[in-house]
Amino acid sequence: MTTDSQITIAPVRKICCIGAGYVGGPTMAMIAKQCPDIQVKVVDINEARIAQWNSDTLPIYEPGLHDVVVESRGRNLHFTAEVDEAIAEADMIFISVNTPTKDFGVGAGRAANLEFIEKCARKIAEVSSGHKIVVEKSTLPVRTAEAVKAILSRASSGATFDVLSNPEFLAEGTAVEDLLAPDRVLIGGESEQAIQALVEIYANWVPRERLLTTNLWSSELSKLTANAFLAQRVSSINSISALCEATEADVDEVAMAIGTDSRIGPKFLKSSVGFGGSCFQKDILNLVYLCEFFGLPEVAEYWEQVVKMNDYQKQRFVHRIVRTLFNTVSDKKIAIWGFAFKKDTNDTRESAAIYICRDLLREKAKLCIYDPQVNPEQIRKDLAAVLKNGDSELSQASAQLLADNVEIVSDLKTASKDAHAIAVLTEWDEFATADFASIHDSMKKPAFIFDGRNVLKELPLAELGFEYHGIGFRR
Ligand code: UDX
Ligand code: ADP
Repeated sequence: MTTDSQITIAPVRKICCIGAGYVGGPTMAMIAKQCPDIQVKVVDINEARIAQWNSDTLPIYEPGLHDVVVESRGRNLHFTAEVDEAIAEADMIFISVNTPTKDFGVGAGRAANLEFIEKCARKIAEVSSGHKIVVEKSTLPVRTAEAVKAILSRASSGATFDVLSNPEFLAEGTAVEDLLAPDRVLIGGESEQAIQALVEIYANWVPRERLLTTNLWSSELSKLTANAFLAQRVSSINSISALCEATEADVDEVAMAIGTDSRIGPKFLKSSVGFGGSCFQKDILNLVYLCEFFGLPEVAEYWEQVVKMNDYQKQRFVHRIVRTLFNTVSDKKIAIWGFAFKKDTNDTRESAAIYICRDLLREKAKLCIYDPQVNPEQIRKDLAAVLKNGDSELSQASAQLLADNVEIVSDLKTASKDAHAIAVLTEWDEFATADFASIHDSMKKPAFIFDGRNVLKELPLAELGFEYHGIGFRR
C-alpha cells in the first residue's frame, strides 16, 4: 500500500466504475453530469445491460434518470463491456458490484457473498499499472477493505493502490434527488491524499460541510448501521401496527404523534406490509453474522429481531386476507396491485410482494398481478425462485401452480375484473386515482381491498361498497 509521502496524487481525470446496476449507473451519471472534465466509463460483464444503458430504454427505472444520462452520454459518460481497458486507463476505480446474501456454505443465509468484489479486486490487480485509487461503493461487511487491499498489494505489475470506502446512501425511486442533494457523503480511507482526491470530485456539487471523512472501518460499518437503524424503525412501527389492530388505535396517528417528537422524527415510520429492497435485510443479516463472528451473540440476536418482525408483518398480512375471505382463498382471484419493493422503481429484490404472492399461491389463490414498471418475466422469475424453497429445481407441482395460478397484466382494471379481493403491495401514485366505482362493479361481491401501504385509506371506498382493510387500524 502507498503512504502519502511515496506518491503525489494528481486530480482525477478518468474514472471507471465496475458494475452498471442500481448503484453504479445513477451515481456515475451524476458524477459525469457534475464534472464535465472527468471521463467516466461504466463497465459491466453483462453485455445486455450495457446495451440497455446505451439505448433509450435504460435497464433501471428511476424518475429523472433518463435526462441525466442523456445529458452526458457520449460526452464524458460511456457504458462499455470493455472492462480491462477501462480499468487500465482510469485513475480512480469504483467497485459497484452486487453483494447478495450467501446462499451456500459457511454463513449461508447471513454473510454477504463477496465473490464478485474479490473478482473485481483481482481483475484490477491484473490489468493496472502506475497508481490507482480503488473506491468501495457496494455495501460491504466491515473490514472488507482489508481483503481488497491484500489482493491489490500483490499485483504482479507493480501497480500501487489506495483503497477508499464511499458507501452509497441513495434510495431507489429517489436516486437522482438523493445524488443531487445528499444529506452527507461519507469517505473513509487511510491516505489523506486519496481521500482529498475523492472529496474534490464531490465538492463540484455537494457543499463541503456535507463531505464527511472517517477511517476505513467506520465508513464501512456506518453504511450497515444506517440501514439497520432505518429498517429497525420500520419494524418498530410495524410491530405497533399489530397492537393497533388489537386495540382500536390507528398506527398512522401513532406514527404522526411520535414523529413530531424531534428526538424521533417523522421519517421511516410509515407502517407497511414489510420492508423490502436489496439492502435492508441483507445488511442486517450481515451485521448479525459479523456480531456472531466477533463473539457478540446478544448483539446479533438484537438485530436479528428486526428481520423476524419483518417476516411476521408479511405473514400477518396474508393471514388477514385468508381469514377475512371466509378462511379460504383457494381458487379465488386476487388482484395484486404492485410488485416492486416500493414505488418509482422497477426493482423487486426482497420485495414483500414476492413472499405475499408465494404464500397466497400456497393457499391456492389465483393471482392477477399488475405493476406499472416491473417486467413480467422478472415477476415469474422471482416467484419461481421462492417456490423452489431452497431446492435447485422447481418441483412439477410448483411449476404447475405458477403456470395455472399466476397471470400478469398491464392495467389495474384487467387485474381486478372478477376478483374477490385486491391486495395493494406497492404504493404507486396511480393506485389512488383508479376508477374505483367501475372496479367495484367488475369485482365479485363482497369486494375486498387489503391495502398493504395505507394509500387508499382516505378514499370513500366503503361508500362504493368495498370492504376495506389497511395496516394498523380497524374500521
Ligand atoms: C435503502 C436506504 O434508504 C439507502 O440509504 C441505502 O443506500 C439502500 O437501502 P432503498 O432500499 O432504496 O434504500 O429504499 P428505502 O426507501 O430505504 O425503503 C426500504 C423499504 O422500506 C421499502 O420496501 C419501503 O417500502 C419500506 N419502508 C420505508 C416502509 O415500509 N416504511 C417507511 O417509512 C420507509
Ligand atoms: P446494485 O443494486 O448494488 O447496483 P446490481 O445487481 O443492480 O446491484 O448491479 C451490480 C452489477 O455488477 C450487475 O450488473 C453485474 O453484472 C455487475 N458485475 C458483477 N460482477 C462483476 C464483475 N466482476 N465485473 C463487472 N461487472 C460485474
